[in-house]
Amino acid sequence: MGKRPKITIIGGGNIGATAAHWAASKELGDVVLVDILEGMPQGKTLDLSQAGPIEGFDSVVTGTNNYDDTAGSDIIIITAGLPRKPGMSRDDLLATNAKIVHECASKSAAKSPDAIIIVISNPLDAMCSVAMRASGFPKNRVVGMAGILDTARYRTFLGMELNSSIEDIQALVLGGHGDAMVPLVSYTSISGIPITQLIPKDRLDSIVERTRKGGGEIVGLLKTGSAFYAPSSAGVQMAEAILKDKRRILPCACYLEGEYGISGIFVGVPCILGRNGVEKVIEVSLTNEERAELHQSAAGVQELVDKL
Ligand code: NAI
Ligand code: 2OP
Repeated sequence: MGKRPKITIIGGGNIGATAAHWAASKELGDVVLVDILEGMPQGKTLDLSQAGPIEGFDSVVTGTNNYDDTAGSDIIIITAGLPRKPGMSRDDLLATNAKIVHECASKSAAKSPDAIIIVISNPLDAMCSVAMRASGFPKNRVVGMAGILDTARYRTFLGMELNSSIEDIQALVLGGHGDAMVPLVSYTSISGIPITQLIPKDRLDSIVERTRKGGGEIVGLLKTGSAFYAPSSAGVQMAEAILKDKRRILPCACYLEGEYGISGIFVGVPCILGRNGVEKVIEVSLTNEERAELHQSAAGVQELVDKL
């Protein structure tokens, strides 16, 4: 019998702990939650384990402050770092989180040299570059979570507008995980019906705008942190696609080498996610306006990477 997949989640805060919850309840594998705070990951995972008999999952969930316990992981999800507070942009987190992500990526990669790293810490696209450098992993084994979340927000708002199920809504959000992200109206449809036939332009424009500011809207409401249910769910969807070799086509932050005319940075684009991580970046055709927006968003990412 083969052993269960092993998923390490670094950062046992809101996103990390909730990701552990999703991963265990889906029985994706055994989960190790790492944090620098002593007792916190141990306490949360003991609590989560005790939901096992109720929910009926057999995933072994452990908490630790020691990277030795992460050895041999298939997936490493990095959520460590500070979240946004009201008035802060994701970019304000740059210097602090770069140090944290560097440490987490290098220590975990040393223990799990064949793993695939999924980065969630902000500013997302720049933190992917930090993780790639610190781990020494090739580009297919470092991938960032943002596009699935941003697309899910967009789909949620479209469902609210139409008072229809979110299940049949297909959409794509490209670009960096910032307010300059690019929700693609031209690639948005519901059961094959182009969205422009269902929602008038002015309403669509305001939904696109709300999507761009979706993270900030939640920060403004929570006041002490940022979103975590949907971000952790999105990270675990990526882990599932990889562990089950589903080869799903999902928007993720991928290291680009010329695709979309962008090179040397991570930016959100559709990709095939399978056992080898990013199996392929998919290039879709864009209008001139969409392309210009994508390049503007990528320029913002490049600026942050240059600061590092
Ligand atoms: P949180 O504050 O609840 O948890 C962060 C955890 O990281 C804390 O428990 C902290 O002790 C831990 N930590 C700090 N330094 C560490 C280190 N060196 N090693 C291990 N653990 C360390 O924050 P939350 O809400 O879980 O957010 C985590 C990150 O995800 C933030 O940077 C946030 O901005 C980002 N985020 C990214 C999104 C995306 O779409 N990519 C969406 C939402 C948030
Ligand atoms: C979010 O989009 C703040 O990046 C965080 O919720």
